[in-house]
This record gives sequence, C-alpha cells and structure tokens, in this order.
Amino acid sequence: MTKKTIVPMPVIRRLPRYHRYLEELLKNDVKRISSRELSEKMGVTASQIRQDLNNYGGFGQQGYGYNVEELYNTLTKILGLDKTYSTIIIGAGNLGQAIANYTNFERTGFNLKGIFDINPKLFGLKIRDIEIMDVDNLEDFLASNKIDIAILCIPKDNSQIMADRLIKSGIKAIWNFSPIDLKVPDDVILENVHLSDSLLTLSYRINEENLLKTKVEEK
Ligand code: NAI
Repeated sequence: MTKKTIVPMPVIRRLPRYHRYLEELLKNDVKRISSRELSEKMGVTASQIRQDLNNYGGFGQQGYGYNVEELYNTLTKILGLDKTYSTIIIGAGNLGQAIANYTNFERTGFNLKGIFDINPKLFGLKIRDIEIMDVDNLEDFLASNKIDIAILCIPKDNSQIMADRLIKSGIKAIWNFSPIDLKVPDDVILENVHLSDSLLTLSYRINEENLLKTKVEEK
C-alpha cells in the first residue's frame, strides 16, 4: 500500500503539466488566457481543466479566462513548491549520479543532502560538493538530518530491504527508480518512475499500425 490521495491520481498527474504550461506563459509575459486557448494549447478539454481545478476551489471567470500569474502561483502552492524538501540518493551509479548532477531539482526546492552507496570505491567522491557516503552510515545520518525524500537508484534485488531500512528510520516519501513493486506501509508515499514504460509505449506506437493491419488481414 502507499498513502492514498484525496483527489484522484489522474487529476494529480495532470497538475505538473498545467504548472509547466503556465510557467511558460508567464515567461512569455502572457497576463491572461481564455480556458479555450489554454485547453487548445494543452490538448485537454476546457471542461477537463475546469473540473480538475474545481477540486481546489475553482479558478477563472466566465468571459475572462484565467489570470496566468494567479493560477501559476496557486498551482505552485497546490504542488507544494512553495516549500523546500531535503533529499538523499541511495545508489551512486549511473542513474544516481545523473540525478545528483541535475541541478534543476534544486531550483524547484528539492535540496540534495546526502548520497549513499555500498561500493567502497565511491566513498569520499563528491558530486556537486556532496560526498558519497557508506550506506552503513545511513541510519546515523537519518537520525541527525531531517530528510523528506529518499531517491532509490539501486539494483532491484536490494531495493525492498533498503526501503524497509529507510522507512524504519522515519522516511515518509520514496521516489523509486528500481524496477520493482515495493511494499510500503500506507503512511508512506511511494512514487515510481519507470522510463522504460514510456520507451515501450513509444515503440508500441511506432508499430501499432502494422500490428493492427496484420490483425485485420488475418480475419
Ligand atoms: P548502477 O549499477 O550504475 O548503479 C547502482 C549503484 O547502486 C551502484 O553504485 C551500487 O554500488 C549501488 N548499490 C547496490 N546496492 C546498494 C545498497 N544496498 N545500498 C547502496 N548502494 C547500493 O545502476 P544504474 O544504471 O544506476 O541503475 C540503478 C537502478 O535504477 C537499477 O535498479 C536500474 O534498473 C534502475 N533504473 C531505472 C530507470 C527507470 O526509469 N526507472 C532507468 C535506469 C535505471
């Protein structure tokens, strides 16, 4: 189980995209946008946008549309981006290092405080001034540092044990990249990322027409 949301997940999954579009509009100095324009830009119906936002009180006025800055600020709050978060990365391999090196997360308020690995060859190396530490020190580190999010970038065979350790030490949110369905208590928020799902969807779409043509021909 992972912590249940109050608003349905499909709505929540659309919010970052609204936020991204509004940020772009704001950068381009757009002050207001009609719900029709916004929906056309985003490829979502105006009523979908309205329904989604209604979960948080509703915005926009009939005949005026949306005030871009106001809606952007509200979505920033809704997404919790008006706060900062402390993060750690477990696993300083290819993926862990790539995430550690991606400075944009920091700009959005996700501050990397520690990187842990099991490989002694990596101990003491630094990524952006943050030292890679021995994972044996994880519990001590968590006891003296308030960490909001653990980012899991280790091989899947070790992931459940690591998740259990993190949770035992008080971690309440895990951003999991390991290709495994972790079991977590229902007060822990688990967010899985599987880049390969997206890649396989892409390859499906490359092949869909042929696939369905063959099916019709077979009939
Ligand atoms: P990698 O082999 O380069 O790095 C894994 C690192 O984890 C190594 O440095 C290793 O020493 C460390 N490690 C292993 N057990 C550990 C433990 N118990 N505690 C701390 N550190 C430990 O592998 P890579 O390419 O970085 O991938 C890492 C994980 O992410 C794999 O599970 C892989 O399948 C997954 N992955 C997921 C993607 C996604 O989209 N979800 C994309 C790419 C990789």
